Amino acid sequence: MKIDKILNTYDNGVDIPKSIERGLFKLFGANNVDDFSERTQEKIREANKMFYSGRVAEYSKLCKEYALYYLPVNMYKVWKPLIDLALKNQIKEDASILEFGCGPGSSTFGLIEFYRFLATENKERSFLLILSLIEKENAFKDVFDVLFEEYQKAFPSNLKVKYKFYNNNVFEGLDFLRNKKFDIILESNVFNLNEGVFDEEIETIKSFVSLLNEHSSIIMIEPGKDEMLNSLRKIKNYFSNSKILNIFAPCCCKNSNCQQYAAAAVKTNNIELLQDLKKIDVKSKDSDYHYFEYLILRNDGLVSHTNNITNATQLNEIKDYLYQRVDIEANVLVAMVTDQCLMLKICDGSLLNKNKVELYIPIAVLNKTNINRTEIDRGAKIRIKKVKGISFNMLECDEVSRIEIER
Ligand SMILES: C[S@@+](CC[C@H](N)C(=O)[O-])C[C@H]1O[C@@H](n2cnc3c(N)ncnc32)[C@H](O)[C@@H]1O
Repeated sequence: MKIDKILNTYDNGVDIPKSIERGLFKLFGANNVDDFSERTQEKIREANKMFYSGRVAEYSKLCKEYALYYLPVNMYKVWKPLIDLALKNQIKEDASILEFGCGPGSSTFGLIEFYRFLATENKERSFLLILSLIEKENAFKDVFDVLFEEYQKAFPSNLKVKYKFYNNNVFEGLDFLRNKKFDIILESNVFNLNEGVFDEEIETIKSFVSLLNEHSSIIMIEPGKDEMLNSLRKIKNYFSNSKILNIFAPCCCKNSNCQQYAAAAVKTNNIELLQDLKKIDVKSKDSDYHYFEYLILRNDGLVSHTNNITNATQLNEIKDYLYQRVDIEANVLVAMVTDQCLMLKICDGSLLNKNKVELYIPIAVLNKTNINRTEIDRGAKIRIKKVKGISFNMLECDEVSRIEIER
């Protein structure tokens, strides 16, 4: 299956589809941000502040406003785990998906959009998505219906999407899903303090296991903030040592002391609606990247990359190699690109807690290899011969270094 367009789009950042943007405005009876009343603007600010109040979020009166503000920010995050699965040929053409806490459909539309790209790039194939969406706040259903109605008009003929909305609390039993099986179970931004989730996560994930088809995945996406990642850490540690499910990505190292949950990022500066919200002061002028973390569990033992790092200097020893050349092998935690340089944060399992080693690869050096920039991303395994130590936790490649990537 071809995924080149998806890889390039994810890397460069993209606007949300115009059909979804139209749907978001339609929720407010508006055509653009200039049509928003003072009251609407105030409610959008309120929806944003909801996550900084220290209280469990209450959506019932702010569903539209949440959708307007957060759907564009969250939509493309699910592409990262889907790309990981695609790179291991684990994307099914007919897929049954369960999403819980779907809200207005931020990740749901991201997942459908991924398939819309696949359908456009692979015209000889047919794609079918059957979505079961669980959401405890019923008012999100109307929002989802309005957005889907606009959006589906743009589907290519080789993509079919069906969905059913369940107004249920996922922590109160799953009897209503009797006899159903899924290829992907998805959550985004549900397993965290904003939703009042403290200790239900592991039991919930365990209750999903019997709902998975063979060779299937559970994808979890959470905000890239340390204090929001307790659930993902807990789940990762639990399933690292269990036979029920295995960690597929982004990192399957079994170091249970490790607190390294470096963030993945989506580029949001090309999203016109967010720029417009900044202009009317309902969105803060924050960074062009939105950080998140994710975890993919599988029920077939498959991993996105192996963790058998050998014959290399351990990263916790590079402080002893200042201004010398060493050979290293590591996994990429974060990849950030500037005009001149690719900056990576890397880990080989020898680093405890929050220590990080940074690796700089000048673009000019990278261009002389046969490696595509998109291959070097979160979860990739990198092997470098003759990299230079430039400080106690920094390494730099130059023309002498030999870079290899394994996925
Ligand atoms: C922060 S929103 C995330 C919405 C969407 N997934 C996204 O990423 O933008 C969290 C959503 O999870 C829903 N939710 C929280 N706990 C839930 C539960 N126990 N069962 C079903 N839905 C839940 C909330 O009502 C809300 O819609």
